[in-house]
Amino acid sequence: MIRKCLFPVAGYGTRFLPATKSMPKEMLPVVNKPLVQYGVEEAIDAGLKQIAFVTGRGKRAIADHFDISYELEHQIAGTSKEKYLTSIRNVLNKGTFMMTRQREMKGLGHAVLTAESLIGNEAFGVILSDDLCLNKDDDGVLKQMVKLYNQFRCSIVAIQEVPMDEIDKYGVIAGDDMGNGLFRVSDMVEKPAPADAPSNYAVIGRYILTPDIFDIIRATPPGKNGEIQLTDALLTQAKAGCVLAYKFRGRRFDCGSVPGFIEATNFVYENIYGEE
Ligand code: G1P
Repeated sequence: MIRKCLFPVAGYGTRFLPATKSMPKEMLPVVNKPLVQYGVEEAIDAGLKQIAFVTGRGKRAIADHFDISYELEHQIAGTSKEKYLTSIRNVLNKGTFMMTRQREMKGLGHAVLTAESLIGNEAFGVILSDDLCLNKDDDGVLKQMVKLYNQFRCSIVAIQEVPMDEIDKYGVIAGDDMGNGLFRVSDMVEKPAPADAPSNYAVIGRYILTPDIFDIIRATPPGKNGEIQLTDALLTQAKAGCVLAYKFRGRRFDCGSVPGFIEATNFVYENIYGEE
């Protein structure tokens, strides 16, 4: 059983400055809910109720969001405004929250390794909350991946086809098609130039990782942009054993970019907001 989900939330959110100068980018609201809460709800819905944050300086608002605000509860209890707290109360009732700080920004691989003491020796999920995944009438993306993990027992990355002129924003895989949207990974490259990309299958921010990844990351030298890349560690894991890539069902919005964020906001306002 997978119980834990890791949220690397130490990044700066440069593309949203000045909004993110003193506020974590993960707290930017898509309509009325912070981006990170969508991810946490997806994890809890997949059965991963122990939430681990790798935070950094300036990210205290995230810790406060996943805690009771006594003053607010006191003011709102018994009034018509209480309904606005329903979604976060549900999250707090179901989940437990733990944090550790990444003191230096040395890449996604390094962020995952920082969480080793919170995760221990068990398989776990990873959600990058910049990638907002919505799947209203179907299983969430992480839930789809947990089902696959229970069947295959190896690391799994979520993938999506992207236009070639955007491929250099992503980790990119090559793999053997196993049918049903599954590929056995044979190659993986972090942010390749279009000419060097092994396919147009981009990794998006949902992973299931087996705990041997920690030792592999420890032995992984800095790669693209001088950072310790999870992509490089996953390629090592794929070569030594098995990593699967899964073309998920559902919509994904790149909320790390302004256009993707606006698209998500419009989509949520038109299709989801008001139903909770
Ligand atoms: C990270 C990963 C990359 C992945 C992407 C998904 O990159 O390094 O492999 O494709 O997330 O959003 P980042 O967007 O943090 O630069």
